Amino acid sequence: MSVDFAGDTSRLYARYRRDLPADQAAELAHLLGLSANDVLVDLGCGTGQLAVPLRRHCRAVLGLDPEPGMLTGLRARAAPGILTVLGADSDLPQLRSLLVSGQGAGAGAVVIGNALHWMDEPAALAAAGALLRTGGGVAVVTQGPPLWLGAEPWQAGVRAVLEQGRGQVRDTCGSDEAALHMRSDILRDQGLDVSITRWQATHQVDTEWVIGHLGSALPDGALQLDQPDGLAERLRASLVSQNGHLLEEVTTTALVGRRGRD
Ligand SMILES: C[S@@+](CC[C@H](N)C(=O)[O-])C[C@H]1O[C@@H](n2cnc3c(N)ncnc32)[C@H](O)[C@@H]1O
Repeated sequence: MSVDFAGDTSRLYARYRRDLPADQAAELAHLLGLSANDVLVDLGCGTGQLAVPLRRHCRAVLGLDPEPGMLTGLRARAAPGILTVLGADSDLPQLRSLLVSGQGAGAGAVVIGNALHWMDEPAALAAAGALLRTGGGVAVVTQGPPLWLGAEPWQAGVRAVLEQGRGQVRDTCGSDEAALHMRSDILRDQGLDVSITRWQATHQVDTEWVIGHLGSALPDGALQLDQPDGLAERLRASLVSQNGHLLEEVTTTALVGRRGRD
């Protein structure tokens, strides 16, 4: 689905998107070779789903995002040691001149969570790799499938409601195997050592959570909350018919590329 992240979208994002769990963040930090002295760059940081749990594994986090509402949501979490920058993937070369040139050794890690599909992927991964210190790593983290593409009957119902008047909503947001392989190849072509790690989770969710989560993936106002037959109401009717048995299977995939010694 195409979306910008302003207004309600970023407010709902802060409330209805999960942080990477602490144990997975610790494992990811280890895979990245992150140390307590490192600066970590979170590109497309949103409201901090990676930045906040990874912060305890490094010295400071620089969260970059082009949507002010997302950065406002991250700042509202008042997490010490996280700086926010209004910026995009196209700003990475300028960031390199700050972090790598002169006295700086480079970033310990660049992480990109559920955001690479919004960017020029080869250019963004090349610019991310160029920010790294020796031994540092890039991580592309995805959570899939998107809620509306899941295999559960209630998810098929959500998909059917979304597709009314909107056409097919089959975009995996970069969480499919083809995207993973293409991204792995890009990192390998940069000379990085590539690994892939997956974590599975099953979440019990409820109607309000599903509607809020969908609102965080749709343009501002798309839920039509003030309309009796608006999208939110049609989703609620579909979900109620499932008697509240709403389980969501999520696979989190971390594609990591490490820069070895030259
Ligand atoms: C789906 S959210 C992901 C947020 C968070 N990283 C997570 O793991 O949930 C995608 C984010 O990418 C940001 N974004 C979109 N285009 C971007 C670009 N060209 N460069 C950097 N971030 C971008 C959006 O503003 C949004 O905050």
